[in-house]
Amino acid sequence: MKVLILGATGLLGKALVREWTGDEVLAMGSRDVDIRDSAKVREIIGNARPDWIVLAAAYTDVDACESHRELAFSVNRDGAVNVAEAARQAGAELIFLSSDYVFDGKKTSPYEVENKRNPQSVYGHSKAEAEINLLEILPHCCIARTSWIFGVGGRCFPDTILRLAANRPALDVVNDQRGCPTYTVDLARAIIQLCRKDASGIVHVTNAGDCTWFEFAQQIVTRGGFTAEVRPVSSQQMARPAPRPAYSVLSATSLRRYGIEMPEWKDALGRYLQERKS
Ligand SMILES: NC(=O)c1ccc[n+]([C@@H]2O[C@H](COP(=O)([O-])OP(=O)(O)OC[C@H]3O[C@@H](n4cnc5c(N)ncnc54)[C@H](OP(=O)(O)O)[C@@H]3O)[C@@H](O)[C@H]2O)c1
Repeated sequence: MKVLILGATGLLGKALVREWTGDEVLAMGSRDVDIRDSAKVREIIGNARPDWIVLAAAYTDVDACESHRELAFSVNRDGAVNVAEAARQAGAELIFLSSDYVFDGKKTSPYEVENKRNPQSVYGHSKAEAEINLLEILPHCCIARTSWIFGVGGRCFPDTILRLAANRPALDVVNDQRGCPTYTVDLARAIIQLCRKDASGIVHVTNAGDCTWFEFAQQIVTRGGFTAEVRPVSSQQMARPAPRPAYSVLSATSLRRYGIEMPEWKDALGRYLQERKS
């Protein structure tokens, strides 16, 4: 199988490149191809003729998206459309990385793939519109929604918490947003399996278990060997430009249909802390 990874220089992309063995892998960041450039996207995909394209490229700064709406839509929606159209022309399969932020967070039980999208942020809107467009262009494409990604090789929540815990006696962390932390290594392995299993339609892919950011931070600080106090605060106290869903736990039902089980996030955090040290 020949695979093209777009967004290969990002947090997930790096893990995909490391984990993907046994197939021919082409890895590209924005310097190789800007997905907003439809002609270049067509040229790259037309020349490479991959069996699968993993579209992990995105404008992922959720807060900055609020003040850079045009950029968010041009990369996350229009860029994805460019890739899907080129994939259709080249006869390639496509797996698109999407987000729990397509939901409004008003549920109190895990979100299933058939639940209605109702994004609250510009980033969430751009991802939701990309999903709708992609399913029209390539009805058989796979949309892998994930959440709260962490891993080595870039900025992520545990990395920030560890840096702060090393320098401060106390940290305030929001305790009214619940979701599923997801380790890039486990996510990459699941994506590889989904491609090998010819996955199609929407699939939710996160580590098992859920927590609030506060609970996540507590585990990070303790297991990182720090003594900093972690204090629970509300989203209102820590106002950010983009609204986040209060509850965005994604159900594993859709992933189990492919016979894929994800490890618990606490287990994943332990492996991340090990990987970070090595
Ligand atoms: N991070 C999360 O918590 C989270 C949660 C849910 C879903 N997701 C989704 O999962 C995917 C991977 O996220 P991530 O955290 O790995 O992202 P990331 O670390 O921010 O990496 C983004 C990647 O996209 C590339 N990129 C940005 N703009 C581009 C453009 N115009 N053309 C081509 N490439 C472009 C970047 O290339 P350069 O390095 O060259 O700039 C980089 O390789 C994204 O689709 C994201 O929306 C992430």
